[in-house]
Amino acid sequence: MATRSEATKNGLKPDLGLEEKARDGVVKTLATALADAHVLYIKLRKYHWNVTGPQFHSLHELFEEQYTSLATTIDEIAERIVQYGVSAPGSMAQFVAMARLKEDEAKGLEMDAHEMVEQIVADHEAVVRNLREDIERVGETYGDVGAEDFLTGLLQDHQKFAWMARAMIKGKNL
Ligand SMILES: [Fe+2]
Repeated sequence: MATRSEATKNGLKPDLGLEEKARDGVVKTLATALADAHVLYIKLRKYHWNVTGPQFHSLHELFEEQYTSLATTIDEIAERIVQYGVSAPGSMAQFVAMARLKEDEAKGLEMDAHEMVEQIVADHEAVVRNLREDIERVGETYGDVGAEDFLTGLLQDHQKFAWMARAMIKGKNL
């Protein structure tokens, strides 16, 4: 049973039934997910702008659909962090430093449509794999079923996005 700290008693911190160490661990996990979501969001916008080729229209739309959805996800992750009584990070430098995904620093003209889709599939699938570990940690180590459920929803979204992007390149020259 978590003990109520002075800050909780004073109404400064929410009393969510989590020890401080567990709360900090969950918040760190969510902040990493937020950072990854930003890196992927920017990458999708970049590809939306720069994609070329016969599948231009479909891919232009696919990337937009995914970054629009990710914008909602980003908001949900950040607001969930705040619910633990801490502030959400909001600097690009912090996000890049925290993220497990890598930014795409190639110039637009160096990329072809196929590589863009492959990269998006790889990123979504990396997020799915990372979230699997995150879900286990927040559930089993920190005992936070709310965060476990929330991250499971994220995993399902990324798995679906990976499938949608992968279906664009299967057996096709873009
Ligand atoms: Fe646009």
